[in-house]
Amino acid sequence: MKYFFLSYIFAAAIIVSAFGFRGSKSELPPLEIIPDMDHQAKVKYQASSEFFADGRGARMPVKGTLPMGFEIPAKPAADGAKPARVAFTSGLGYYDTGKEGDFYGDGLPKEITSDPAVFNEAFLKRGEQRFGIHCAICHGASGNGKGVTSKYGILTAFNFQQPGNTDPANAAAYRADGAIFDVITNGKGLMGGYGGNVTLRDRWAIVAYIRSLQLAAKESGVTLPLQ
Ligand code: HEC
Repeated sequence: MKYFFLSYIFAAAIIVSAFGFRGSKSELPPLEIIPDMDHQAKVKYQASSEFFADGRGARMPVKGTLPMGFEIPAKPAADGAKPARVAFTSGLGYYDTGKEGDFYGDGLPKEITSDPAVFNEAFLKRGEQRFGIHCAICHGASGNGKGVTSKYGILTAFNFQQPGNTDPANAAAYRADGAIFDVITNGKGLMGGYGGNVTLRDRWAIVAYIRSLQLAAKESGVTLPLQ
């Protein structure tokens, strides 16, 4: 027993002298028993690389692609007029978030409605086109929630055509413009967000188009599940 204690104290002394007390600081690089992927083969920024034919380590962006959040200017700045932003969410106002303070707003934002060059028939057409590209596959071309995916029983997408869809007091069926905008931006439940793919202005164009679908159904009295 005596020898056990002696060797135990001896071993403890050796370990403490080699590794130091817990929490003690050292200028030396840490001992790496398991390296945790700290060291990997990589190209450092601005460094050259023999791997690529042009000798550059960093690669040029792939032709025809845009980095997420990149904005294509609406028109040349020559006339001095500031075009309405087409960009992706970058602020906290209604135009960027669909929210006014803690609540969803309703109605299109003034950034859209105040500019006749933006707010016109082409805006709604653009919404129709974008809805067709991004939403109809799940929500159906008429917005009734019966897109192609529903045929395979994969998803139950929201039905924009359910009774009460134009009545703000009907919480089950009505979604405020800002709420629809927010769902496009961030997704909700089973639906993913499209904020990185669809520009701000296009998101509002989609909202406007969904409203026109609902109004058309209401005016015509046709409530059949159109496809
Ligand atoms: C991949 C299928 C899919 C696509 C594409 C899709 N959605 Fe959805 N969406 C859903 C599903 C599923 C729900 C129900 C989400 C839940 O409640 O879990 C939903 C719900 C919604 C809701 C209601 C959310 C709420 O408040 O209850 C809105 C608004 C909406 N989607 C708008 C859109 C718009 C606009 C687009 C096009 C930009 C779009 N969605 C594209 C599947 C989709």
